[in-house]
Amino acid sequence: MCGIVGYVGPRQAQDVVLDGLRRLEYRGYDSAGIALVVDDAIVFAKKAGKLANLEKAIADAPLPPATTGIGHTRWATHGAPNDVNAHPHLGFGRRVALVHNGIIENFAELRARIEADSDELGLVSETDTEVAAQLLELQLASDIDLTEAMRRVCTQLEGAFTLVAVDAHDPSRVVAARRSSPLVVGLGDGETFLGSDVAAFIEHTREALELGQDQVVTITRSGVEITDFHGNPQEGRRYHVDWDLSAAEKEGHDWFMRKEIFEQPRAVADSLLGRRTAEGLLQLDEMRLSDQELRDIDKIIIIACGTSFYAGMVAKYAIEHWTRVPVEVELSSEFRYRDPIVDYSTLVVAISQSGETADTLQAIRHARTQRSKVLAICNTNGSTIPRESDAVIYTHAGPEIGVASTKGFLTQLVACYLLALYLAQVKGTRFGDEITEVVMQLEAIPAHIESVLDSAESVYELARSLVGTPSVLYVGRHAGYPVALEGALKLKELAYLHAEGFAAGELKHGPIALVEDGMPVLCVVPPRGRDQLHDKMLSGIQEVRARGARTICLAEEGDDRVAPYADVLITLPRVPVLLQPLVAVVPLQLFACELASAMGHDVDQPRNLAKSVTVE
Ligand code: G6P
Repeated sequence: MCGIVGYVGPRQAQDVVLDGLRRLEYRGYDSAGIALVVDDAIVFAKKAGKLANLEKAIADAPLPPATTGIGHTRWATHGAPNDVNAHPHLGFGRRVALVHNGIIENFAELRARIEADSDELGLVSETDTEVAAQLLELQLASDIDLTEAMRRVCTQLEGAFTLVAVDAHDPSRVVAARRSSPLVVGLGDGETFLGSDVAAFIEHTREALELGQDQVVTITRSGVEITDFHGNPQEGRRYHVDWDLSAAEKEGHDWFMRKEIFEQPRAVADSLLGRRTAEGLLQLDEMRLSDQELRDIDKIIIIACGTSFYAGMVAKYAIEHWTRVPVEVELSSEFRYRDPIVDYSTLVVAISQSGETADTLQAIRHARTQRSKVLAICNTNGSTIPRESDAVIYTHAGPEIGVASTKGFLTQLVACYLLALYLAQVKGTRFGDEITEVVMQLEAIPAHIESVLDSAESVYELARSLVGTPSVLYVGRHAGYPVALEGALKLKELAYLHAEGFAAGELKHGPIALVEDGMPVLCVVPPRGRDQLHDKMLSGIQEVRARGARTICLAEEGDDRVAPYADVLITLPRVPVLLQPLVAVVPLQLFACELASAMGHDVDQPRNLAKSVTVE
């Protein structure tokens, strides 16, 4: 949801900013823009559409050299994605250039105030951002520096925002502010960077600084100065980024998404590393909640959005089974608006790959006002959701660039299983050897995922054969039900097809009316160990087949009872029913990626979407 870059140092700012935008483009690609400070003036370029359009515009009309600059890649909220609404936005005298991520909620009121003051201050765009640019420039007129101007403007703004600005009269600094929107600082040698996340500057430095809420940061060649909105000095948390540039490159794959699907064995293995003590007990380093606090928990509410929500649905099966603690799973955007019943004995688990999703952030803030403990499951060190939570389990997927989450999802599942087992250990609801057995089954999963990936070609062939199909249904039962939902979401996101996931048992209550002759129905068949579940799933498959569906069944190897009802059979490795999502979702990811690719879509940057949605 908008990528932001800032730079001060000895290099060509244009190169650093454009490289950074390339790595942040997954956050939004409705438009892109850059502003440089050159000889007491702002020089800028901005273009609707992907970054490539901006790069072409700059190639046609090169910008002069400069060593201070800012850049932006946009996911539109206020105003259509056109050239005028693209960032950066300039103040009326072209002294300030500003880029913004978030929503300034009181912009209409501020805009009316600016427009009432003078006709000359006419705003040209439909954005909320331009208002802040004008306000900054008005402040600078009273002979203060950009840092102080930023502080004064921020105290007038409501909503969530990251702002990054330059002043034509002061090339020595870039000034930024953040409230509930992401921003990190990169600390180089004689140069300093700003980015929505570390991918923006990882090529240049792996030393980063995490910022807190309501802070203004000024970067210069020699470092940073951080204050709150009232000028009181603040400190950032310094950390070392433990992944490098190659993790943010495609490494020979055509899409980041495909690369990330193939990284899943490694990502799952990394997320399991170091979770057992020498005595064989589970340990979660960043848990920060005492055993007594965990024992006092009598209800868990999982909140998340999109793919992370489906990880939460799987977690419910695992946590309730192993701990007998009741679990509710709720969409973050619904949670706080329904007056949920939460108190000090409720554990709220927030699942978020990015750690920045605004709906989830607001939901945890609400939960904490109700005195409940919040545990984050997150992939992004330094992000807001873990920082505002009581405890965190970090997944170790590495940077996820493809907008559609894959390795993020699998590592979230791993973290959810670990949480469930850890609670079982602390509460004593499972014996130690039972827990160890499941952990060992988890440790075998990376090899199982490898075996699914080995047969990717047959899934690709199936996907290509379905180009032109208008609609695909997905069905599953038990932990296979969220897998069906996730498979359908992937296809919607990437191929823009009508795709829906259902609980197989629910088909007969309505959705079966959708089934037409030849319609593909992907069926996630539970392992045979759970016979009743397996039998019922087979009945569901026969019901859709009898009505003309083309059944594509994902079933464990050796499951000869499924074969007679499967037009296409995709075999899965043998794993326990609760862990089956870890292997069953992989062919569905491959399927959506290949079908969308064969349809000519941009798999990494699907239309209308953004990787990290920082507005409610
Ligand atoms: C966006 C992305 C989804 C993602 C969801 C939740 O909508 O496009 O892929 O699942 O946000 O993101 P989070 O970072 O909170 O897991």
